[in-house]
Amino acid sequence: SGFQIGVIVGSLRRDSFNRQLANALGKLASRDFTFKQLEIGDLPLYNQDDDADPAPQVHRLKTEIQASQGLIFVTAEYNRSIPGVLKNAIDHASRPYGKSAWAGKPAGVIGVSVGAIGTSLAQQHLRNILAYLDMPTLGQPEAFLQAKEGLFDKDGAIGADSREFVQKWLSAYEAWVRRHVS
Ligand code: FNR
Repeated sequence: SGFQIGVIVGSLRRDSFNRQLANALGKLASRDFTFKQLEIGDLPLYNQDDDADPAPQVHRLKTEIQASQGLIFVTAEYNRSIPGVLKNAIDHASRPYGKSAWAGKPAGVIGVSVGAIGTSLAQQHLRNILAYLDMPTLGQPEAFLQAKEGLFDKDGAIGADSREFVQKWLSAYEAWVRRHVS
């Protein structure tokens, strides 16, 4: 038994705070949860003409989603929405029509930004998309993080000030997955 969770980072930046957050979440996971980050940076731009013959990277992503019992989206906010790279990945795995890999997978949404309202609008837009994709998405607690000194400690774990907050969020997400996966 055990649960595999696919973690999708909505930023391709080398030193991405959101990737650091994704790495730190993995350290906080319960023993029966395995977190695997799913690559989205090598996907082509979505083009509906390719639905009949998708690129190998698209096939890989869909296979990884299908093998996951849940998905966590750890996303940056770009211009008050989700980054295009994340939307591109979501669109790819939603197609062809009727063959979406997302349907029914329990989702969690979290993110960090340099702004004070830390990805709240990106997360709200993402929730709209996930609702359409029929992904039951954890509603509470919400987690909006601001990138500031000490958010991560020297080992890449969540720093002392935010650790309990993030741990609570993750425990709620794990309970959400247990409830939706039988
Ligand atoms: C940003 N940033 C940003 N921040 C925010 O809180 N709200 C926003 O709407 C935006 N918009 C935005 C657009 C674009 C094109 C860029 C490049 C950046 C700043 C953003 O929070 C910051 O770059 C983070 O470091 C991005 O996350 P990663 O890449 O560190 O994970």
